Amino acid sequence: MTAPSPFRLVALRPEDAHLWLDPAVHTYVTAMNYPRSTEAHRIPLWRDHIARQGWFAVGAVTRVSTMDALRPGLSRLRIDRLTGGEREILVGVAYGYHGARDQWWNQQLRSGLRRAGRSPDEITAVTADYFELTELHVHPLAQGRGIGERLLTALLADRPESTVLLSTPEVPYEENRAWALYRRLGFTDVLRRFTFVGDPRPFAFLGRSLPLATSPESVSRR
Ligand SMILES: CC(C)(COP(=O)(O)OP(=O)(O)OC[C@H]1O[C@@H](n2cnc3c(N)ncnc32)[C@H](O)[C@@H]1OP(=O)(O)O)[C@@H](O)C(=O)NCCC(=O)NCCS
Repeated sequence: MTAPSPFRLVALRPEDAHLWLDPAVHTYVTAMNYPRSTEAHRIPLWRDHIARQGWFAVGAVTRVSTMDALRPGLSRLRIDRLTGGEREILVGVAYGYHGARDQWWNQQLRSGLRRAGRSPDEITAVTADYFELTELHVHPLAQGRGIGERLLTALLADRPESTVLLSTPEVPYEENRAWALYRRLGFTDVLRRFTFVGDPRPFAFLGRSLPLATSPESVSRR
């Protein structure tokens, strides 16, 4: 692919999900290097998340050449019908929502904290009022250009919650771009080496207080 033109951020709205959900899940599966079959399971789950209180999503888009727009891998990312731009593709997505006790992720976190010996008061303090950063992914063709940080900063701007929490796979020496980004933005350990029910991989829960010090760029409606 030829070098992409500059990237801009757009709001991904619930009412437009039919225009961005497929490219967004495609970006996610490609970024995580998951099997393509994962897409079919994720689409209904992401739809379910869209309905949750405080849900908000931001996408990163860029314009590609006529040739690139026709390539099978990239044509799945086309998002021109949402943005109205010419040959634009979605190369990054971030979303999250207000955390609540009836959510599976919240229950997993609380049970992990209990097993780690944290007191009920401590667990309440951690989980009382947070924004869950559920997904943050940049397509490999656009990684390493600061887009993940721009997405995350824009997503966390103007949140009413006092903290943000996330989970990310443990990696040796915290050596990947996700860990580097979270540490750079001041995320600290909440719980380490946790295994979710149904997934043998160890995960870390990280968190930080809101707001972030960094000022976010504006997110266009289109
Ligand atoms: C984790 C992830 C979202 C981070 O997004 P990213 O856009 O790749 O990374 P960042 O926003 O942190 O950008 C950092 C890089 O951009 C570079 N950068 C920053 N600003 C830049 C700019 N204006 N122009 C060019 N490059 C820039 C930095 O030098 C840094 O490069 P380096 O990592 O080679 O040192 C992304 O790598 C990804 O999707 N990874 C796979 C999926 C994943 O792990 N998701 C998170 C699961 S919890």
